[in-house]
Amino acid sequence: MFLKKLELPIFKAIRKIAKEHNIETYVIGGFVRDTILNRPTKDIDIVVLGDGINFAKLIAKEVGVLKVAVFKNFGTAMIKYRALEIEFVGARKESYSNNSRKPAVKPGSLADDQNRRDFTINALALSLNNSNFGELIDPFGGIEDLNNKIIKTPLQPVKTFSDDPLRIMRAIRFATQLNFKIADETYEALASNKHRIKIISKERITDELNKIIMADKPSTGFKLLENTGLLEIIFPEISALKGIEKIKGLAHKDNFYHTLQVVDQIAPNTDKLWLRWAALLHDIAKPATKRFYANQGWTFHGHEHLGSKMVPDIFRRLKLPLNEKMKYVQKLVLLHLRPIALAKEEVTDSAIRRLVVETGNEIDDLMTLCEADITSKNDEKVKKYLQNFKKVRRKVKEVEEKDALRNWKSPIDGDIIMKTFSLKPCREIGELKNTIKDAILDGEIKNNYEEAYKYMLKKGKEIGLHINEKN
Ligand code: CTP
Repeated sequence: MFLKKLELPIFKAIRKIAKEHNIETYVIGGFVRDTILNRPTKDIDIVVLGDGINFAKLIAKEVGVLKVAVFKNFGTAMIKYRALEIEFVGARKESYSNNSRKPAVKPGSLADDQNRRDFTINALALSLNNSNFGELIDPFGGIEDLNNKIIKTPLQPVKTFSDDPLRIMRAIRFATQLNFKIADETYEALASNKHRIKIISKERITDELNKIIMADKPSTGFKLLENTGLLEIIFPEISALKGIEKIKGLAHKDNFYHTLQVVDQIAPNTDKLWLRWAALLHDIAKPATKRFYANQGWTFHGHEHLGSKMVPDIFRRLKLPLNEKMKYVQKLVLLHLRPIALAKEEVTDSAIRRLVVETGNEIDDLMTLCEADITSKNDEKVKKYLQNFKKVRRKVKEVEEKDALRNWKSPIDGDIIMKTFSLKPCREIGELKNTIKDAILDGEIKNNYEEAYKYMLKKGKEIGLHINEKN
């Protein structure tokens, strides 16, 4: 299975230079793992018995790459060649100090290097040397763990996790991406070391979180995070969704498991990270808005507004972008109930037009979110809601085609109103603008300049405005 892949030109160059300099080299880590699992491979990690940085420079020269990115602190170097990132590291022993991720690095053997790796399935090494080319060196039973779908540390798990606490997140991320089980001893160690995650930068934790969110079944990762107690540390708002309260025999649903089901349900329908984030956060304000009324039972009034307002703090803390991506998530959280309301009633053109105007380009994504938000256990109900959403989607399309409403702007702006009636900035301008917008969206007048202008004159007169005759 490897021989074909080892024919890549980069491996030929590595073998040539290694032979010339009498240096041993091995492919290690993700590339080996993913080839065995038949997953697409991306980056290539090469272990060099010797100076990894120097070797990277020799390879760059050999293949005609000008730039070598050197990470001196880590003793590694990376080159980009034919859409691949190839990272070179000198085999080493590592010992970490207790309060940092920065290892004290000493040269070592291949076995030393495999020892310091995170999981047995990531410690597999493939020889590039002529004496045993293509041989798999698997000191910890990594192949067996791949076959049995197990995430396990090569050494005592407590040591592996305390060497680098990011591995706590990585264990959960790999279990989620690969649909593997975490070995019992490894699981216990990651749960008992959870507080060490605090020394890891937010960016790196969020990277792992994003990979969990992008997996086929993100709920696997979130359940592991919750059950190990990590979620409360890294993302308390999601953890707070968990639980059911009961008053007078009335219980509300568990919003943690509901949210996870929504994220799982949206996964096959989108590979947009931010749409998946919107699914994760759509009910984030339910704990804060929860009320019980004797006559209505449990309510979460306004959770879409408060939820949308909570997004910036969450994004800031997790070092997620604070730009239009965040605004997109806010918008979807804010509007996530609107199509549901529409699907329940007879859908009027006017309500659909308003939704399209408010949602703009995000209308399709909003519908995808709403469809994923149906988590009823009653198949009949699910079928009915989905049919209603189909109807809403159809109507959206009809209205859009007819009225060109996506990213709609009123044909009459404040300037025209001010000039027509010789007005200085005042409240009436806004009111008139809204009246015109309502008339268009309600279908009273057509969405064009002529009709909107006539309507403006008529309505202006009605509220006592005078036309500037110079116009
Ligand atoms: N590694 C490790 N501990 C870490 C990070 C990485 O032991 N905290 C080792 C593992 O052997 C891993 C290799 O370095 O396989 C490469 O790391 P990386 O590129 O981050 O991960 P991959 O395993 O290649 O997987 P992916 O690309 O999916 O992240």
